[in-house]
Amino acid sequence: MAPSYNQTFPILVLGAGPGGLALGAALQQRGVPFLIIEQGPEVGHSWRRMPSRLKLLSPWKANWIRPGDASRFTAHHETTREEFACYLRDFAAERRLPVRTNVQVKAVRCDAKEGFIVQTSVSELRAHCVVNATGCFSAPWTPEIPGANASPLLRLHTADFGDAESLRRRIQRDERPVLIVGKRLSAGQAMIELVEAGFQVALSCRGPVEFGPGPLVWWWFFRLHPWLEARELRRRGAQARGFTPKMPGGKARQLVERGLVQIFPPIERFNDSSVVFSDGRSLEPSGVIFATGFRRALRHLAPLGLRLNTETGSPELTGFESSEASGLFFLGLDGQRNFQSRFIRGIRQDAPLLAAKLAQRLAEPVNRSAGLPTRREPGDARSRSSTHHMTSLRRIQYYASVPRTWLQLTLHNSWGILNVLDIIWLRPMRGGLIDESHPFCTGVDPATGKSIWHSNVIFRTPPRVTWAEGHRAPDSDDEIFTKVGGHLCHQVGMAASSADHPGGRPAPMPPGILYLHGGVHYNGGWLLFNDFAEAIEHFSDRRFAAEFRRFVREQRREPLTLFRDRDYDRDEFARFVCFMRTTFPWFSNSNGPKKFVLWGNPSPYPAVNTITGNWIRDCRLLQSELGRRAAPRPPIPAGQYFQDGPWQGERSTTLWPENLLAWATERRIHLRGEQENLYFVDKRKLKAGLRFGPEPIPSPWRRLARKLGF
Ligand SMILES: Cc1cc2nc3c(=O)[nH]c(=O)nc-3n(C[C@H](O)[C@H](O)[C@H](O)COP(=O)(O)OP(=O)(O)OC[C@H]3O[C@@H](n4cnc5c(N)ncnc54)[C@H](O)[C@@H]3O)c2cc1C
Ligand SMILES: NC(=O)c1ccc[n+]([C@@H]2O[C@H](COP(=O)([O-])OP(=O)(O)OC[C@H]3O[C@@H](n4cnc5c(N)ncnc54)[C@H](OP(=O)(O)O)[C@@H]3O)[C@@H](O)[C@H]2O)c1
Repeated sequence: MAPSYNQTFPILVLGAGPGGLALGAALQQRGVPFLIIEQGPEVGHSWRRMPSRLKLLSPWKANWIRPGDASRFTAHHETTREEFACYLRDFAAERRLPVRTNVQVKAVRCDAKEGFIVQTSVSELRAHCVVNATGCFSAPWTPEIPGANASPLLRLHTADFGDAESLRRRIQRDERPVLIVGKRLSAGQAMIELVEAGFQVALSCRGPVEFGPGPLVWWWFFRLHPWLEARELRRRGAQARGFTPKMPGGKARQLVERGLVQIFPPIERFNDSSVVFSDGRSLEPSGVIFATGFRRALRHLAPLGLRLNTETGSPELTGFESSEASGLFFLGLDGQRNFQSRFIRGIRQDAPLLAAKLAQRLAEPVNRSAGLPTRREPGDARSRSSTHHMTSLRRIQYYASVPRTWLQLTLHNSWGILNVLDIIWLRPMRGGLIDESHPFCTGVDPATGKSIWHSNVIFRTPPRVTWAEGHRAPDSDDEIFTKVGGHLCHQVGMAASSADHPGGRPAPMPPGILYLHGGVHYNGGWLLFNDFAEAIEHFSDRRFAAEFRRFVREQRREPLTLFRDRDYDRDEFARFVCFMRTTFPWFSNSNGPKKFVLWGNPSPYPAVNTITGNWIRDCRLLQSELGRRAAPRPPIPAGQYFQDGPWQGERSTTLWPENLLAWATERRIHLRGEQENLYFVDKRKLKAGLRFGPEPIPSPWRRLARKLGF
């Protein structure tokens, strides 16, 4: 039955700039209902408020938001802010996009029962999904400077600058210099405009002014820039970085180099109607213009308590969606898909992708009481058609790849087993190589004093809002990482030396095996999904699987995939690890809170380690003093992997080769009878009380010698 949205909007888009409008057009094309809310009296409000003389830095061919509009100007036309604002107005009008203007969003809250509650200056609205496209222009940023509030001086941000004439009307003594703070584009443009209008200008900035290209080079750069960017993106993918805009060369450079604009260091304080700089000099300006940039306009999201990146001010995202609030999406943020995402040329590519994601989200069954997407049940419409994206060609490719992957897996796993046998039997690692304060035993990063796990999360989906009957709501993500990480720390801790047990404690596993958990949890990259179906939907996206491989190849660390749903089906878990063993040439192990699944071990939450062999180096390092210090590695740099979402795999269930592998493995373990599923020890011996350590396991040569009676 189709969900009913009587009282609640399926999608509310906040902001009618290029982002909100491009998304609106893409949703409209898909027949997805939505409403756009805009605080200004017209769409494109940011562009109407920009400095009057501003021209877009990007040529027209990078500024249209739907291909049909490309012919409005010539490809290299320098678009003025007025032309662009008019374009946005026509764009919304021609498509009759549903936009409510003069409505400011004040606060967004989320309620498990009611979905999103959006409090506006006019009324309260409810929505299943919210897309934030509020840009940055509404959040001009100025540094806090002592004495500023008490000073009678005119202070304004370039966002409110308008033009030189409006400034002249606002200041009384225009014979004194106007002080501009900042040294990039806005600063340079305001400087030139004011000098041309007859103002004296001074600049306050941190460090020397760097200039961009002058007019001649700019003419070429303006034309070649899209091509240079495309090349950079082809070469470096999501890692590509754009060109940082500097103060324009040409006129601005001449003004500074000829000393017509005096340069000061940063302002230390305001002293009544003068400013005192950090070098002790002072100036009595007619006014101060802050060209100090913008932050993301996200104040209305404060009630959701999202963690914001301290450097960029951006929320933590999984593709377009908040990693913390399911159903909250963003458009126009830096680096969502790549560095272009905050520019118009990036927005126009991202908007259709986000529209597809939203259409898919609305097609998911909704919880009747809350209207929010809920956990899929096996057998629901989506699961049944879970392989519908798989073309015949892909099926053939898949079946052809299975024998090769299994062969690679067998060879790779045999190598891993030899290494395990080496550290436990051939050259057994003794207990007590590290003590209980070693990061492998605490999970604490010595550089920060905080646990490392959260910093090493390379991918996670937003948590489901509601869980089906019989499925407990999970702990918070942080608690899940802490519980699983803590469990693995405990394993390593058994081999660590302590006051009572200098050679480690007796344990059901030999010290070598206990140590190897250290590299896995401390250095490993963590992924978190709600359930197996969701993980298959991601891993069956070939780009996602390629990112997983790239992580292993570049970082040389072990990946650890966790799940929030503790109430899983054991057979489904077995099939999932066999899906992983058929997708990647590495052995994946199924650990979890339920009784042993295949070769897996207990764990507070379902945790699949994909054993790529990188544990070997981490483990062996523990044998020397230097190695013990080098083994715990610094956190994985943020934003390096899985940045190119949204991810859309070709299925959400396993296929028969994977099911067959699960069944065969289960049979093999079953045939082992009471030996069960630990390959390096007979479980009957453990049940009878066998414990490894603190004495090292004798090497085979010593055991042979003992047998021979030496
Ligand atoms: C000075 C400046 C110049 C730039 N020049 C370029 C350029 O040349 N080329 C380029 O590609 N990019 C440029 N950018 C980046 C540019 O902002 C984006 O590319 C583009 O405008 C982003 O579109 P958006 O829809 O995300 O945000 P915006 O265009 O800022 O639109 C956001 C909309 O949301 C509305 N809004 C905000 N808060 C609320 C609220 N609480 N409730 C309701 N409505 C709200 C705003 O009124 C606005 O209409 C520039 C940015 C700045 C600041
Ligand atoms: N289309 C156009 O023509 C156009 C025009 C203007 C802006 N833009 C775009 O708008 C965005 C913002 O540009 P912007 O120039 O406004 O801002 P910006 O690029 O963020 O630059 C901010 C400037 O403020 C300085 N600053 C910050 N805090 C300071 C402090 N406490 N004391 C002294 N200086 C301080 C910074 O110094 P440091 O340099 O030392 O960090 C920097 O020079 C950019 O994306 C830009 O491309 C486009």
